[in-house]
Amino acid sequence: MEQKLQGQVAIITGASSGIGAGCAKALAAAGVTIVVNHPVEATKAAAQAVLDEITAGGGKGMIYQCDVSKEDEVQRMFADTVKQYGVLDILINNAGLQRDSPFQEMTLEKWNFVIGVNLTGQFLCAREAIRIFLKQGIIQGRSRAAGKIICMSSVHEMIPWAGHANYAASKGGIMMLMKSIAQEFAPSKIRINAIGPGAIKTPINHSAWETPAAEKILLELIPYNRVGVVEDIGSAAVWLASDESDYITGQTIFVDGGMTLFPGFSTNG
Ligand code: BGC
Repeated sequence: MEQKLQGQVAIITGASSGIGAGCAKALAAAGVTIVVNHPVEATKAAAQAVLDEITAGGGKGMIYQCDVSKEDEVQRMFADTVKQYGVLDILINNAGLQRDSPFQEMTLEKWNFVIGVNLTGQFLCAREAIRIFLKQGIIQGRSRAAGKIICMSSVHEMIPWAGHANYAASKGGIMMLMKSIAQEFAPSKIRINAIGPGAIKTPINHSAWETPAAEKILLELIPYNRVGVVEDIGSAAVWLASDESDYITGQTIFVDGGMTLFPGFSTNG
């Protein structure tokens, strides 16, 4: 396989499962050394399994425990990464979770937890990455950009989601965070984009596809008529991190089989 990102270094948050793990494997296959971030002691074994698969395939990296909603832990992870590898090229701001609730019953704890990980976590990690990218500048022969950030958003940065107000608000927030810092740091040659996944088969939405009946209902929302897999996101992440997308910044690429095309209007309206 062509190693499009040979020798680059990436931190991928929330890489012990789901889309983060998929991105870790895809970037590793493209030649990237991966910091497989995971949040707590309980996710260590899963993170190690992702790293083991990467090293078995000839890739490199380390696991790193850090709760992205905690400023001191985030700062330590970025400092240790630079200490270990001397450089940082890519951040995949991926860590995210859902704590769903009817709005009138949503506790402040559920609200704060989701905003803390999904939105504040992306702020804290992006800020550390940008500090490093500004210091490094463009390193000849590595990449045309001084650094690349890919924010994992969702179709729910634009599709409202009843019963998930905290999650949808976090993703709408990620969109404007991404665009605002893309505008701020384009002159410094730092590219910041987002991926907006639709329904991708991962633990976060297991109940939506675990039975054929559930999957059939889900497919009504997906014109392309298949549920996504993490590889769909991984290949988009590799491309967005590569010089092939060098003129793209401040954009969300929806990888959703057409979920954002308002499929309800295909036969009516
Ligand atoms: C959510 C999934 C959901 C998908 C499409 C994602 O952002 O995390 O639970 O299946 O959006 O609605």
